[in-house]
Amino acid sequence: MGVEVSVEGLTKSFGSQKIWEDVTFTLPDGEVSALLGPSGTGKSVFLKSLIGLLRPEQGKIIIDGTDILQCTAKELYEIRKLFGVLFQDGALFGSMDLYDNVAFPLREHTRKSESEVRDIVMEKLELTGLTGAEGKLPGEISGGMRKRAGLARALVLDPEIILVDEPDSGLDPVRTTYLAQSLIDINAQIDATILIVTHNINLARTVPDNLGMLYRKNLVMFGPREMLLTSEEPSVRQFLRGSKLGPIGMSEEKDDAQMRAEMAEAEAGHNDGSPGGDELLGVPPQMQPTPGSPVRQGELRREKRVAEMLDTLPASAQKAIREEWSARGHGNGAVATAPAGAHAAPAGAHAAPEGAGDSGLDEHYGSDEG
Ligand SMILES: Nc1ncnc2c1ncn2[C@@H]1O[C@H](COP(=O)(O)OP(=O)(O)OP(=O)(O)O)[C@@H](O)[C@H]1O
Ligand SMILES: [Mg+2]
Repeated sequence: MGVEVSVEGLTKSFGSQKIWEDVTFTLPDGEVSALLGPSGTGKSVFLKSLIGLLRPEQGKIIIDGTDILQCTAKELYEIRKLFGVLFQDGALFGSMDLYDNVAFPLREHTRKSESEVRDIVMEKLELTGLTGAEGKLPGEISGGMRKRAGLARALVLDPEIILVDEPDSGLDPVRTTYLAQSLIDINAQIDATILIVTHNINLARTVPDNLGMLYRKNLVMFGPREMLLTSEEPSVRQFLRGSKLGPIGMSEEKDDAQMRAEMAEAEAGHNDGSPGGDELLGVPPQMQPTPGSPVRQGELRREKRVAEMLDTLPASAQKAIREEWSARGHGNGAVATAPAGAHAAPAGAHAAPEGAGDSGLDEHYGSDEG
């Protein structure tokens, strides 16, 4: 099963330029999370820090119980094998064809035979819609295909933690939905912990279990998706709506005079061309795994986790969560998708959340040993 990634008090600067400071949050094991934030707020720097490619000067990054900022080079090498990473630019080797690019981690990190390598490579190429393109060089394919090849390569080692930096950039809307579906299906199949960095609001609203946003050198918030999607925080609302109206400007931040001027224009009826209004706020139904997929264990664990923390969430998030639960006919957080005969939880493994009643929440939870 996926691995929890916990970040505490993390601060990163380049010279005198502080990128973000005191970032603290946990990516719950086997759940899908997404990180939003205006361009240049350090999302890619954050992903690179998680795998030890960049070194924050303060804080902890605890992966599978090891603080990778304190561990030895050998330990870091081992921890890195848990990761599959799709970098923002794809980071393919330009002189290798797609087949060799995707095969590279298998040849580097495993002793698999070439025929085993072939089976895995062809499976991942098919998953990412690249069958037939395996002989092409990165320079000979479209930007969206390069992105998908990067994703195929990120998946070949069946990673426990998958980091994807703007997987949708350069993809058309249909391919973006397919790609989002692949990420959810992969999560259902291998229970990997997934972190997606994206500017795609539709993807952010429908795919992840948890959502966070970086802005003004800080993590504005991170929590269950309902928390960010119902937030009253002006920067979050502005970002979700893609509006010019709000604190986020073309450069890092705008001044009060500019904000007032833009508000006055809007009130006078100027159409600023924002992609959306209030319909982009609120909590839409979450994307489900393709029918026939295994039950997503991360979703089951999340329901339990959210039920336990419900009281600590803002009222708007609590309301949205309760509405989702009752829409699914449960009202206690147990998902409707668990198959008949799902294994019983080990005795005493989870305390029932308050108010869960005796409606059998626990019977939906598999044992941690899977
Ligand atoms: N290796 C580096 N050396 C110095 N500065 C860097 C380095 N990498 C990134 N930066 C700076 O860190 C800041 C954050 O960059 P980053 O690429 O993480 O932004 P981002 O949030 O991913 O933006 P985008 O949404 O445009 O991809 C930028 O100001 C960038 O110039
Ligand atoms: Mg980036």
